[in-house]
Amino acid sequence: MTDPTPPASVSRRRLLTGGALTVGGAVAGAAVAHGATGGGGGPAPATAAPLVYGDQTVPFHGVHQAGIDTPAQAHAAFVAFDLVPGVDRAALGRMMRLLTDDAARLTQGRPALADTEPDLAALPARLTITFGFGPRFFAAAGLDALRPESVAPLPAFAIDRLEERWSGGDLLIQVCADDPLTVTHTQRMLLKDTLAFARPRWTQRGFRRGRGTQDDGVTQRNVMGQLDGTRNPPPGSPEFDGAVWVDSGPSWLRGGTTLVVRRIRAEMEKWDAVDTAGKEFAVGRRLDTGAPLTGSHERDLPDYAATNELGLTVISEASHIARAHVDDDRQRIFRRPYNYDEPPGPDGRPDMGLVFAAYQRDVGAQFLPIQRNLAEADLMNDWITPTGSAVFAVPPGCAEDGWIGETLLS
Ligand code: HEM
Repeated sequence: MTDPTPPASVSRRRLLTGGALTVGGAVAGAAVAHGATGGGGGPAPATAAPLVYGDQTVPFHGVHQAGIDTPAQAHAAFVAFDLVPGVDRAALGRMMRLLTDDAARLTQGRPALADTEPDLAALPARLTITFGFGPRFFAAAGLDALRPESVAPLPAFAIDRLEERWSGGDLLIQVCADDPLTVTHTQRMLLKDTLAFARPRWTQRGFRRGRGTQDDGVTQRNVMGQLDGTRNPPPGSPEFDGAVWVDSGPSWLRGGTTLVVRRIRAEMEKWDAVDTAGKEFAVGRRLDTGAPLTGSHERDLPDYAATNELGLTVISEASHIARAHVDDDRQRIFRRPYNYDEPPGPDGRPDMGLVFAAYQRDVGAQFLPIQRNLAEADLMNDWITPTGSAVFAVPPGCAEDGWIGETLLS
């Protein structure tokens, strides 16, 4: 997918001072020197008008579904559904045609077919809609033989405190946009399409920094204050393509991927009680710059063998980055997490953390070994608790006259 986001190297400052920028065919921003005069009568200093992102679009049709290699938008809703009894392969085909048709419209700023609030569709704000199929989707379609083996509930880990209300699901719709009202409207329109076929099982909403708060493309902080995403394979790179897009196995999934969604609570009160050195030791990176403890810049490569004067490794073998790191690019995962923040409970304790979404070709070969390594000995386990878990196959994208899921269901 091509994405309309200006490259990271185009700084906001340049956008603000460099005149109008045409992005994806839309005028995304303009530097306007306001002619207002100050009280003194002389010309007031030029002030830049804010950028407007609402009409930016991400193409819906293509080889891959959008919303995976798309730079993460500011808001997300992950909605999982249970299929109602009796829904078979033909019914699933009807549902996916309806959903695809409305997704193609809404992502391009056009109302859904039976849109009751068509004006709300006018500002897509880089809306992407991504569909995933859970384990029972295949059984309902009578196509269990085509389900990738590891598209199944993950094995239990000792660190898990999973709750049914955040786990499982037969169908996933991931809705992402830079505007929360767009996400809400889209979610409601798509929910109407599913009514005859499925019931919502869980909804997890998440957020990142508001668009425009920082330069596009910089690594963002999560609710724990860490720079999160530094060593992701960069979208569009050979490492990303080799790790994320399915290129072997069942032909219906080629160009698709798989998705693991884990709801992970951050134990903020315990985290608050740790000093900076302790927090950095647990992750293996500095909190301020995100640099590895053996380097000085965020992008410096960690030196896992470097030792201190006591002969101990500077980056602990039990640190999060040491446990999560894999050398083979094909074994990597692509993390696209969102923060969540629910109202605190009656005891005043915060309920926040990550809706951790990871994409990879093969859950069993990539996600699972990393998760096992982390569950065994990650120092961060003291401060994070998985409370939800779900796995989906994410079919490839489709052409303009096609629909998502056709390679499996038609
Ligand atoms: C609330 C939960 C989590 C938090 C707060 C968290 C935070 C972080 C941070 C701060 C980094 C270092 C910067 C970076 O490269 O992004 C990192 C790296 C990483 N994390 Fe996590 N993480 C969490 C859960 C997970 C889970 C569940 C997995 C996979 C099962 C995972 C896999 C990774 C990987 C693969 C890296 C890069 C390692 C490397 O090659 O350097 N993380 N995480």
